[in-house]
Amino acid sequence: MGAGLDRALLDAVSGFVAERLGLHFPEERWPDLARGLANACRELGFEEPDACARRLATCELTVRQLETLASHLTVGETCFFRDPASFEALERQILLPLVARRAEAGRTLRLWSAGCCTGEEAYSLAITCLRVLPDLRSWNVSILATDINPKFLAKAEAGVYSEWSFRGAPAWLRERFFSPAGGKTVSIDSAVRSLVRFGYLNLAEDAYPSLHNGTNGMDVVFCRNVLMYFTPEHQRRVAASLHRCLVDGGCLLVNPAEAGTSLFPMFVAEHVGDVCFYRRTSEAGRVAARLVSVPLPPGAGGLPGAMAAGMVELPVAVDPLASAAPMVASVPVPAVEEPGAPEAVAGESAASPLVLARALADQGRLEEALAACTGALAADRTDPTAHFLHATICHELGRLEEAVVALGRVLYLDQDFVLAHHGLGGLYRRLGKRKQAQRHLAVALELLAARDRDAVVPESDGMTCGRLLESVRVLAGV
Ligand SMILES: C[S@@+](CC[C@H](N)C(=O)[O-])C[C@H]1O[C@@H](n2cnc3c(N)ncnc32)[C@H](O)[C@@H]1O
Repeated sequence: MGAGLDRALLDAVSGFVAERLGLHFPEERWPDLARGLANACRELGFEEPDACARRLATCELTVRQLETLASHLTVGETCFFRDPASFEALERQILLPLVARRAEAGRTLRLWSAGCCTGEEAYSLAITCLRVLPDLRSWNVSILATDINPKFLAKAEAGVYSEWSFRGAPAWLRERFFSPAGGKTVSIDSAVRSLVRFGYLNLAEDAYPSLHNGTNGMDVVFCRNVLMYFTPEHQRRVAASLHRCLVDGGCLLVNPAEAGTSLFPMFVAEHVGDVCFYRRTSEAGRVAARLVSVPLPPGAGGLPGAMAAGMVELPVAVDPLASAAPMVASVPVPAVEEPGAPEAVAGESAASPLVLARALADQGRLEEALAACTGALAADRTDPTAHFLHATICHELGRLEEAVVALGRVLYLDQDFVLAHHGLGGLYRRLGKRKQAQRHLAVALELLAARDRDAVVPESDGMTCGRLLESVRVLAGV
């Protein structure tokens, strides 16, 4: 066996890697696992792979160590507009109709490249948005790009690429969206760069959908060439979680070669030429689709209750998203009572504006969520969780100063609200106020150190104190 590791040890390490990273190393891939481990061991502080493997098999790793391990076990193959037919389907079948509908209401688009590698996929999504939205400035476009490998993320943030990243890409891409960056490299335009937000997210372990990492209310998720490396169990779990990250009518694109349709029974598969993508269509959306496909009689008052309000306003093309609007506004509970919805809402009154605000925010309808949250705060200004939600929505909308003020209010009401300290740490850093940032991160570290690692952080959608502690440490640089 490679690198002198015995079978029992490799078996244990492959179990650990499957559990913590989702990565699948069956016996025939043990030589790859041993090679990755041999490369990672020095960075992890071990002289020999054997000692490193024994430690992995028996011990907890910090997030940083996990990142190091991931960086040696993951595959970083990508390029701009990889599989051009998928981007064509994205542009024509998904974005153009969506933009036509949202132009009148909302003007938001939310996309996610999950497993973004060095950023080519995320920037390709951004460029596609620019192509379909000539008036992009009047839209709120958010593109999230996440990966488990911090080295890939650093390269993605830098946005500097060599010839290799453009293999198979159309000529206009480099001419229009890149400028020379020395040697044979080019740098992505700041207009494209500013549309994408990169972040660390372990698809096998971290919580999503979650308002706190911005994985909620997605219109489009690209998770291509990622699932193929996961264990069957993790493939199923990731598919189910990504389903919940999408709004009604939202679409998931994977690489057809990596996962058969059997992994996605909760989606409706749509085929365009050779491309197959998966659309989240709730029962409500399906009902809406059926209803609008039949011409409505004048003054179609016969439709039941809240739905009728949505149906008669739908354009001829089916828009499950548009149909969801009046339903959520008047009947908030079904919108939040789906599997995986935050448990915090379960005990609250169905009529509570806070429940509505959360449901709207979860669907990415941030302006409406903000209005509902403001309503909740008008009724009760003493609830720190309402101020926290207000801060989170402002943050998502890019209103950073307002988010800072709202988090200050949270801490005025509850000085131990650890996510508010964490949030202020991140926000002050972005605003260039390092001293304030460090102060809040230090308080967060102190609060978390006193808690049980496995306890769930309040208002965090299930994140443990141990996981948040690691994330605060990374932010604080300690
Ligand atoms: C082959 S690349 C795919 C890049 C891009 N999606 C594409 O199709 O061109 C696979 C990416 O998945 C990431 N990855 C692997 N395991 C992951 C995990 N557990 N959580 C998040 N990302 C992961 C890897 O770091 C790598 O960047």
